[in-house]
Amino acid sequence: MRKVAVIGGGLSKFGEHWDKGLKELIAEAGVQAIQDAGVVGKDIQAVYGGTMSAGGFSKQEHIAALIADHMGLNPLPAVRVEAACASGGVALRQAYISVASGLHDVVIVGGVEKMTDVTIEEATTILGGASDYEWEVFHGATFPGIYAMMAKRHMYDFGTTEEQLAAAAVKNHENGSKNPYAQFKNKITIDDVMKSAPVALPLKLLDCSPITDGAAAVLLASEDFIKKNKCNPVWIAASAQASDTLSLHDRKSLTEINSTKVAARDAFTQARLTPKDINVAEVHDCFTIAEIMAIEDLGFFKKGEGGKATANGETTLNSKLPVNTSGGLKACGHPVGATGIKQVTEIMWQLRNQAGERQVKNANYGLAHNVGGSGGTCTVHIFSRDNK
Ligand code: COA
Repeated sequence: MRKVAVIGGGLSKFGEHWDKGLKELIAEAGVQAIQDAGVVGKDIQAVYGGTMSAGGFSKQEHIAALIADHMGLNPLPAVRVEAACASGGVALRQAYISVASGLHDVVIVGGVEKMTDVTIEEATTILGGASDYEWEVFHGATFPGIYAMMAKRHMYDFGTTEEQLAAAAVKNHENGSKNPYAQFKNKITIDDVMKSAPVALPLKLLDCSPITDGAAAVLLASEDFIKKNKCNPVWIAASAQASDTLSLHDRKSLTEINSTKVAARDAFTQARLTPKDINVAEVHDCFTIAEIMAIEDLGFFKKGEGGKATANGETTLNSKLPVNTSGGLKACGHPVGATGIKQVTEIMWQLRNQAGERQVKNANYGLAHNVGGSGGTCTVHIFSRDNK
């Protein structure tokens, strides 16, 4: 396998866009990524696009060709990747494989979702397609309800409290307040979270990621291309993916996501690193309990100690392991197909020392963790400043 690096990235602003459609969001992120990479259209050899349900949310299918078209990249081959909220992460991995294998030298990989054009009931039903629809959504278990069950069990088994969950949201809003692309820039307190409207208890409004429009794009290139061209690369040290049952009732445990544990194990083995080596991580916090479980399953904290560690400030911007410096899904927003690629732009900016007010000091290794549904799919990518 050849070495592969991220050589550029771009984002649309995340939020509610009444005046922009999928095409405008794609162009906004894609053009920025191409300019950042310093390549021209003829350098790019393929397009990979992640979207969970452009058909459901926007009535638009055939999204990969749409991306190629609106990026001015016809007639390049364009591939759509769907893996629920992990569509971005899986698209990145497919793009990585195409460059690592020697098939392509430079590819663009993007993610997009425009979720706010439907009602909340429709959005909830569309998102429910990422669960075991027949056994979960059909019986009323929407995603907030599914993660609420995990939270309840985590609280029962480990004594995790609602205030500890809230601490993840407070931290992520604090980080989001420093991110110009974030949907929410307001800082919140534990009290705000505790008093926010119940959604599926113990999860309240401010424990949830929002409904978001947005797009993200990165360019990947081979070591050969980078040697011959002026680039500012962030190397992909590992790319791992794993699956699990879609339904919670088929799992051995409600307090861990096994696909995260397997993908993390494989990623750390590939990169020859341990969780202690990571300086900054973007993890999939679709709900506060998801961040708590993620930092445990990725090996940063022991099982059951994620809530306490978060409440103790062990994952804040100035801590040893800053988590979700972008604001995470909670505050930066969660346009489902774009999220996995947005995480990569944040890690790229951090490792290049371009994260502005959110900059983590001496960040050499970063990790991006992207989950589909309640863990049916998980990708873990590790990035390195140096070509090690
Ligand atoms: N965090 C913070 N504020 C939020 C928010 C969130 N997640 N969601 C909505 N808001 C704010 C809105 O900005 C609005 O504020 P305003 O009154 O100042 O304008 C207010 O809360 C009401 O917004 P509204 O759009 O009416 O909320 P809603 O009840 O329709 O939706 C949720 C709230 C939590 C149900 C919705 O965001 C949701 O379903 N989130 C989960 C998404 C999901 O499941 N993703 C996939 C994960 S696997």
